[in-house]
Amino acid sequence: MGDGDAMTHELLKLAHILVMSAWLGLEFAMFMLFSWHRRDSITPDDRRLLARVHESVSFGPKIFWAPMLAIGVALTSVGRWAFTGSVGVVVVPAASVLAAGWLAGQVYVFRARLRGTMTTDQTERVKVISQVDTAFRWSVVAVLLVVGISSLATGEPIAATWLAWKVTLFPLLIASSVTWKRVGRMIGQARQAVIDGAESARGRYGRLIRTGQLMLVGQWTVIVALAWIAISKPG
Ligand code: HEM
Repeated sequence: MGDGDAMTHELLKLAHILVMSAWLGLEFAMFMLFSWHRRDSITPDDRRLLARVHESVSFGPKIFWAPMLAIGVALTSVGRWAFTGSVGVVVVPAASVLAAGWLAGQVYVFRARLRGTMTTDQTERVKVISQVDTAFRWSVVAVLLVVGISSLATGEPIAATWLAWKVTLFPLLIASSVTWKRVGRMIGQARQAVIDGAESARGRYGRLIRTGQLMLVGQWTVIVALAWIAISKPG
């Protein structure tokens, strides 16, 4: 590796680790916000305010998988773990462009929802983006599983076992981010019912929050496991 490549490798690793830190940190913040929501004593106004904070905080963990994957693919190529030579020249820009396009769509949806004054056109656009988004995430899950499992079984296209494990486990995070779309919507509806004073919604709201917290702990565990695999590089 020349000096330029070594520097690029280090900068990419730094970016990779920064995304990981932000991801873990914001998931912890989400967990704490959920704990606040579970208190019966907070007023509807406080709950509404917490919900707004929660919405902004939860944007990070919703989108981090795409930059993490794009940086991971670049690290894989620059670090010569796989996708070397002309394959890297195609795979790295393709992963970066797809991630950037997808992120632009997510920022659009986030901003439109946060403003809370969507026109009919925007509502329609958000619906289409959301459908494309779900299809995109499942496609990425499928591609990564094929690449990861094939690499574990045959050593191709990724010879390093630790990296093949990362690529096989990472789709768990993407799949759970799709599940969040549904769980998040259900939590939002139950929260609105509680804010509107429906006593009967409290039990369901509490159970949904507990499910959300369990999912966060699961994601946290997978992220930490992926970091450990990268640091210790077993195999
Ligand atoms: C949440 C998911 C991920 C986490 C927490 C994570 C964590 C890390 C950490 C902590 C390192 C630094 C290891 C070291 O310097 O010893 C690293 C390096 C690396 N990661 Fe990831 N990573 C994730 C996803 C991915 C994905 C999806 C890929 C591949 C597509 C990937 C590929 C790599 C590569 C190639 C390296 C560089 C190893 C080297 O050259 O020393 N990572 N990762």
